[in-house]
Amino acid sequence: MAIAGIVAGGTGSRMGGTVPKQFMELCGKPVIVRTIERFAVNRGIDAVVVGVNPDWYDHMLSLVGEYFPSGVYVTKGGADRSDTIVNIIRYASDVLGFADDEIILTHDAVRPFVTEKMISDSIEAMSCCEICTAAVGATDTMLISADGKTASEFPVRSTMYRVQTPQSFRMGQFVTMLGAVPQDRRSEITDACSVYHRLGIKVHIIQGSETNIKLTYPADFEAAKAFVRAQEDELSGE
Ligand code: CTP
Repeated sequence: MAIAGIVAGGTGSRMGGTVPKQFMELCGKPVIVRTIERFAVNRGIDAVVVGVNPDWYDHMLSLVGEYFPSGVYVTKGGADRSDTIVNIIRYASDVLGFADDEIILTHDAVRPFVTEKMISDSIEAMSCCEICTAAVGATDTMLISADGKTASEFPVRSTMYRVQTPQSFRMGQFVTMLGAVPQDRRSEITDACSVYHRLGIKVHIIQGSETNIKLTYPADFEAAKAFVRAQEDELSGE
């Protein structure tokens, strides 16, 4: 058994506009609906729980009513991404009755191109690890800069990866791990994996992809439209 936790509590400030990016239409369908669909049709997923920005809670409920007759649930997101995950876990355990040791695949609402293979690879990896994340090898040379003005390090490119989602772990363990992070270090936590890594737990990698993009800036939307059109052409055999 596994559940999908779709994190949708953000406002999309870098994208701009009045509608958060997860609710923007991508080729006639809201981004978040495209993302949820990938998990809702997957046989390895027992339930999908969406943690949504409280201002958009009613809107999300109406989308679920329109597109997903069963198996998709909505709760309110938190102040940061980790809090949104905790709210999703609480809902899954308190309302839906999933056990603490249940596997959760957390995924950004704004990554609509996650594949069936990434989902099944995540579930499979969880049979022999405590946490795994999708990641893709860096194609650009990376540098590290503490001040944003000068480079302090040039890591070897073949050892560099870009972190994506899904990120998977067991529900109760994540809440415990996050609770162990001192409040003044919370701002350093940009994803669940860093919570485990700082406590010395190995984070396993599953293969992500160049198309599993996170819609962040307006230009990402243009790329996403091209991906959707390419998928539609492939399905229609063109
Ligand atoms: N997210 C969340 N809860 C928050 C903040 C972010 O669930 N309190 C989610 C976003 O909705 C998104 C994912 O985390 O699906 C990745 O975050 P990001 O791309 O940074 O989204 P935003 O925070 O919405 O964007 P921005 O930083 O541009 O405001």
